[in-house]
Amino acid sequence: MKLIIDTDPGTDDAVAILIALAHFTNDEILGITTVAGNVKVDVGTRNALRILEHAGRNEIPVFEGEAEPLERELETAEWVHGTDGLNFVPFPEPSKEAEGSGAVEFLRDTLENSDERITLAVLGPMTNIGKLIRDFPNTKNKIEKIVFMGGGAGMGNHTPVAEFNILVDPEAADIVLSSGVPLVMMGLDVTHQAISTKERIERIVATGSETGKLLSGLLGSLLDIEIVKQKFPDGTPVHDAFVTAYLVDNTLTTGEVVNVEVETESKLTIGQTVVDVNNISGRHPNVHWMNKVDDEKLFSIITKTSELLK
Ligand code: RIB
Ligand code: CA
Repeated sequence: MKLIIDTDPGTDDAVAILIALAHFTNDEILGITTVAGNVKVDVGTRNALRILEHAGRNEIPVFEGEAEPLERELETAEWVHGTDGLNFVPFPEPSKEAEGSGAVEFLRDTLENSDERITLAVLGPMTNIGKLIRDFPNTKNKIEKIVFMGGGAGMGNHTPVAEFNILVDPEAADIVLSSGVPLVMMGLDVTHQAISTKERIERIVATGSETGKLLSGLLGSLLDIEIVKQKFPDGTPVHDAFVTAYLVDNTLTTGEVVNVEVETESKLTIGQTVVDVNNISGRHPNVHWMNKVDDEKLFSIITKTSELLK
């Protein structure tokens, strides 16, 4: 498989990236592209470099992406991920820089020149991907599939109906959802079903690796946030991990192929993904919407990650 990870690291992004680094080779992970979301894009870029530094995988190139959504003001989530983006979990300082070219240029060149289709793992706002498809539509034919964390059927985490990644750049999400590219959606409906309980974190720490300590820091870091603790007293979801864990084992989740569209106009419901679970609209079923997860399997993959990455 050929894979590009598009990310706004982000504590759960970091878990997702570590899963990919543990299970895929440098020949399979063609690069990491960063985008503004949880934190400003330069902070996310530095975090991507820090994660690679920790894993000893500096051969994987990092390309800095869009600093602002396609049409809106950037909204970040430092209140969730900390001003450093990793809630001060002690990843090392990077010993290299991001590449000179930008994320969309890298995505376009790599897709155009690849002799096989490439899977995109999208962990943040879809700004880079939306810009790629809008400006270089021919690249769509070289995308194997897009597995993304975002949205939810009638549920939100930043407004009553909108999930953060989609809310930050609904116009970009609209381009991706109407692109015709095969889409796999890991929305809040499924990510809220897998919780980083104390027992699961202890199992990860018991592997004894440095990675295990960092994972424990990442998984436990949101529990200091009152609103998160109230909703998830036993542990927090690890949204982005679903994307790369699914690429490791696609029996992780099950779902249905349904129509999903996004609200880009309404003040009240901007960023809502409208998931037509009962096929009422008759609109084209464009998304493999996941709604069930084997949560034990998710944490086995995370524990395995801790064993495989020292
Ligand atoms: O709503 C959760 C998503 O928003 C995750 O991708 C998290 O990293 C943030 O980007
Ligand atoms: Ca993210």
